[in-house]
Amino acid sequence: MGVKANLFADYIGALFKGVKFSDVPINPAVEFHFILAFAIDYTTESGSPVPTDGNFNIFWDTGNLSPEAVQAIKAQHTNVKVALSLGGDSVDSQPAEFKPSSVSSWVDNAVSSLSKIIEEYHLDGIDIDYEHFQANNDTFAECIGQLITRLKQSNAISFASIAPYDDQEVQSHYLALWNKYEHVIDYVNFQFYAYDSSTTISQFIGYYNTQASQYSGGKVLVSFSSATGAGGLLPENGFFEACRMLKQNGELKGIFVWCADWSKANGFKYEIESQDLLAS
Ligand SMILES: *[C@@H]1O[C@H](CO)[C@@H](O)[C@H](O)[C@H]1NC(C)=O
Repeated sequence: MGVKANLFADYIGALFKGVKFSDVPINPAVEFHFILAFAIDYTTESGSPVPTDGNFNIFWDTGNLSPEAVQAIKAQHTNVKVALSLGGDSVDSQPAEFKPSSVSSWVDNAVSSLSKIIEEYHLDGIDIDYEHFQANNDTFAECIGQLITRLKQSNAISFASIAPYDDQEVQSHYLALWNKYEHVIDYVNFQFYAYDSSTTISQFIGYYNTQASQYSGGKVLVSFSSATGAGGLLPENGFFEACRMLKQNGELKGIFVWCADWSKANGFKYEIESQDLLAS
């Protein structure tokens, strides 16, 4: 089965605002991914957060987003898949650092800890969202590339995405990964909301073209943030107009939102509009 060009993805669970999968409107005509945020290789057992060299723990709202809730939403909607995202910006208000002791130890620990979580939660994919690095770009590329490769080989996951944004340090790590492991990466969830909040429609199209050429051959998804005070091109400022322009040129691969936790406050109106546009 080929990958359709109407993927919609929504991050969920990082902010503990009580959002449930069943709160979010799901259009049956799109391919819908929930992305649980986040699993992090840190422990907070001793109080302050400590890195664990690839031993992942769950940091999302498991009370509302449990294994049973994943099973239920997938049973109710055959177009829904659920992934988990690794890393994120922070853990207990401190930067969540990518800090392996070696490639082989990190990969072994990550494969075994994530395989358990993926099985317990009935998950289908992983997303890579590290934003702070205590390792060079080659080490990052090897660790993440080998992790995705092994999880795909064991059939633990069927898809993988990466979530870079326009920052030199971040792009150096993700482009090194892309250059070597593009063949195992299905989507680039580029954080277009990390650009300035003054972004115009034509600037947005320019940013899209730049990133589509950097991640050449990849399915680069466009995105907005529903957070208070978000950057990038907002739905109110022409985000969907830009999407329609890309769609007319056959360039729109999908849309993702950061995040359902925030969108709940306005009844998910832009989740609905995104899916309507993708389904049309
Ligand atoms: C990775 O880092 C090296 C050393 O800093 C640099 O020369 C190289 O261009 C980087 N690779 C990418 C893809 O950014």
